[in-house]
Amino acid sequence: MPRIALVPGDGIGTEVVPEARRVLEAVARVEGLEFDLVDWDLGADRYLREGVTITDEEFRILSEEYDAILLGALGDPRVPGNEHARDILLGLRFRLDLYVNFRPCVLLAPELCPLKRVKVPVRLEIFRENTEGAYTGLGGAFKKGTPHEVAIEEDINTWTGVERIVRAAFEFARARGRPRVTLVDKANAMRHAGGLWRRVFAEVGREFPELEQDAVYVDAMTMELVRRPERYAVIVTSNLFGDIISDLAAELTGGLGLAPSANLHPGRHAMFEPVHGSAPDIAGKGLANPFGAVRCVALLLAHFGFAAAGERVERAVAEAIAAGRTTRDLGGSFTTAGVGEWLADRISVGATDDIGTRT
Ligand SMILES: NC(=O)c1ccc[n+]([C@@H]2O[C@H](COP(=O)([O-])OP(=O)(O)OC[C@H]3O[C@@H](n4cnc5c(N)ncnc54)[C@H](O)[C@@H]3O)[C@@H](O)[C@H]2O)c1
Repeated sequence: MPRIALVPGDGIGTEVVPEARRVLEAVARVEGLEFDLVDWDLGADRYLREGVTITDEEFRILSEEYDAILLGALGDPRVPGNEHARDILLGLRFRLDLYVNFRPCVLLAPELCPLKRVKVPVRLEIFRENTEGAYTGLGGAFKKGTPHEVAIEEDINTWTGVERIVRAAFEFARARGRPRVTLVDKANAMRHAGGLWRRVFAEVGREFPELEQDAVYVDAMTMELVRRPERYAVIVTSNLFGDIISDLAAELTGGLGLAPSANLHPGRHAMFEPVHGSAPDIAGKGLANPFGAVRCVALLLAHFGFAAAGERVERAVAEAIAAGRTTRDLGGSFTTAGVGEWLADRISVGATDDIGTRT
């Protein structure tokens, strides 16, 4: 039985994760699945109470005794330095070597897209390299604070690091029947990194001859995603470009409240989290949209091989949007818990509908 650590964290994380749990329990019931769900108290409250962010032993337990983590959000105005979030979130990403940041951006209803002429389906599945690139912190400053200041931010690209993310994207496309894998880079201006990415992409791509493969410069890709997002399927890219492209793609498919993500070390560790933060401005008011966290449940189910169960969750979210059962950010008037309850009911009733259709 998969063992899942539920880490609500801070702010609206503590409101959306219980709804994700409610939905997971509902879908598990109708699909006959079993999960061992364990609540974890990690976040600002614990840090302020005990002075502890996360211990080495807790890392070990999460790494060795759990199959996945579902995290809400971390960040609290009472911890202005955000050190607990850094220790927990970045600690988990780096110590578990979660090198895939998977950001699926799937448009569930055309009215959620800010572009006028876009229709469903738009399904952009972004594989962002999560452990190297421009975000390692390597570099330095010289003559700081003077007009001659020099700032160097290194962009690290290793064959091994690039090869494993590119392979993860191709394997995903093959396993899920996606037609195309697109590499996004800036190989015309950043020739050393771009050259490495292109050679790896071509070499790994040869093992997947049934998939269409192309490479697009990142600046052109921002235009392409606005012009014809429906052309693209699986996108693989570096840490920096992935950060930017995935926010654009998320906004094209409904925005922050709807966006889920997964941090993965395929075959070893998986951590799912909605893309949004802890939203202190609306925390504790029942205004948080739980769809991002709930769609993490769909990702989690697919990750464990329960694709039909995952689709059931996605369908319920699409139905909630169609029925106007949404929180205020999407124009509805329902509370976080009200939306979660509706989804759980819908999943249970939907299961009865399935049986009705079959007999
Ligand atoms: N992965 C994470 O845990 C993560 C990610 C981003 C930010 N943060 C942290 O969260 C805190 C707040 O950051 P921020 O304000 O820049 O980003 P945020 O995502 O928390 O909020 C941005 C805006 O979007 C709204 N919003 C976000 N999620 C929503 C939801 N589910 N439903 C309805 N509205 C929603 C908020 O009310 C706010 O106006 C900071 O401490 C930041 O460090 C954490």
